[in-house]
Amino acid sequence: MKASWRPSTVPRWCLLAVALHAIGLVENRSVSAYITSYGAVPAKRQEAWLQELTVDLIRSKPGELTADKVSQGHDIMYAWSNTRTPPPQSPRVSAYAAPLAMESLVKRLVEERMAGNDVADVTTADYNCVLEGWARSGAGVFAAERVEQILQAMQDQPSETQKPNLSSFKAVLMAWRQQAGLDYAPYRSQRILSWMVELYQQGRNDKALPDADCFDIVLQTWGRSTHEQAPKNAEQVLFAMERLYESTKLERLKPRTTSFNAVLAAWSKSSQPQAAERASDVLAFMERLAYRDGDWQVAPDAASYATVMGALARHASQAIAAQKADEILQHAMEGSQSLPAKQHLVLDAILFNTAMGCWAKAGVPGAYRKARAILDQQITLYESTGNDVSKPDVYGYTSVIASCAAEKDPTEKANAFQVALQTFQQLPQHDEPNHVTYGTMLKAIAKLLPPNSNLRRQWTRRVFDQCCDAGCVGDMVIARLREAASPDVFKSLLQGHSKKSLPSSWTRRVEEKSDPRRKKTSKRPAQQHHRRKRAEV
Ligand SMILES: *[C@@H]1O[C@H](CO)[C@@H](O)[C@H](O)[C@H]1NC(C)=O
Repeated sequence: MKASWRPSTVPRWCLLAVALHAIGLVENRSVSAYITSYGAVPAKRQEAWLQELTVDLIRSKPGELTADKVSQGHDIMYAWSNTRTPPPQSPRVSAYAAPLAMESLVKRLVEERMAGNDVADVTTADYNCVLEGWARSGAGVFAAERVEQILQAMQDQPSETQKPNLSSFKAVLMAWRQQAGLDYAPYRSQRILSWMVELYQQGRNDKALPDADCFDIVLQTWGRSTHEQAPKNAEQVLFAMERLYESTKLERLKPRTTSFNAVLAAWSKSSQPQAAERASDVLAFMERLAYRDGDWQVAPDAASYATVMGALARHASQAIAAQKADEILQHAMEGSQSLPAKQHLVLDAILFNTAMGCWAKAGVPGAYRKARAILDQQITLYESTGNDVSKPDVYGYTSVIASCAAEKDPTEKANAFQVALQTFQQLPQHDEPNHVTYGTMLKAIAKLLPPNSNLRRQWTRRVFDQCCDAGCVGDMVIARLREAASPDVFKSLLQGHSKKSLPSSWTRRVEEKSDPRRKKTSKRPAQQHHRRKRAEV
């Protein structure tokens, strides 16, 4: 961490941009005018305007900035930090514009100070603006490297007022977390974390003592990494956190549910043979700490339980995974009843969906009963609490239908069909069927009803008609229809259309190419992703 850092000069394209955009800009420009008109001016012009103000200021002669000008410099910086983040697909130049401009302003203020002008002071706040500017720039690994250099430079400043504080360190840790796809990213963030502890212990920076957030960011970087050693290393970081907490007794360093969840995430992604077992052990450990020792801050939450189910589904045999998922779900239900109200464990739909998904793949006779029992539990819970996060949704319902369709025992098939049908008919009470639901229902018909039976013909037609009305006729539906219907019936149901030329009203709601299981809105994108994966049938 010895790299020295000097703010870069304004690249030539910046000046060019200013020259181009200057035409048509109002004469009497000022920062406050900029700020009051913020929102009224298109983003491009705001940026050009700021660019011009920036260049004006940095071109002035060193040593001549008045107090007013210096404070304007700070204002321009904050204005830059409020410019909208460019979308990822926009040209790189635009992504770099804000942080580069901020860097040049900082550089100019430092020069001013060096020229003997005491009114110019650069503080941690200014540097943090630059760090955050880079962090938001979308400039990828370049941004992460850059913020780390700047952080180092801040720490090298002799003045206390310029040293990095916890916000500065966090900005850099987060920049590396964004790069978790790179094998070395978690190592880089872990190194910063150790450096922070060292700086604090050596008395070189009193503000460098990490808090639980810092540890969590590093843990999450391991949790998102596909590095082979990710779970082991995540565990080590968690142990280090635990030891630091034990030795300092500082509450703000105490490991909590999110810290453990990151370790669970790392195990759940791992391809190591012991992954599922380790994830289960960590979960059991959390439960012991919470329910036996009363440490509610590490009580497993719905995400912990769902993550372990996910790990089991990927590693254990499907039948065992389903059995375990059932046990885990029961633990979660019990936990949600015994936790103190303040720590309320909210059992969300993802948790139930994951468990039902396990049963859909279990391949054991009677699995559909288990899946349906879970859905019933969920419906009861939802109706008693009215909490929207536990509302049964199309993914869970579809998993139950899939578990029915997977029933192989001939003596079970008639009953499995009844359960599938009842589930299919009940779904609209809670959510809308999608094309996977219709395809899966047709599969249930094909697998569970005797060929050439009236019942089969009747339901094939009904389900397909509904599917057309709902605009959900996708490739999967066509493939399943072919299995459920005789060739004659298939042809008549398609009403002369070929698979390639279906009426658009039949297909209007199919999003097979993007992702059919995506929900319109969610506050929890990561979990949403999880839900999508688990809901596959
Ligand atoms: C770090 O410093 C900035 C600027 O003074 C301040 O806004 C921020 O709250 C500080 N962060 C922490 C964690 O103290």
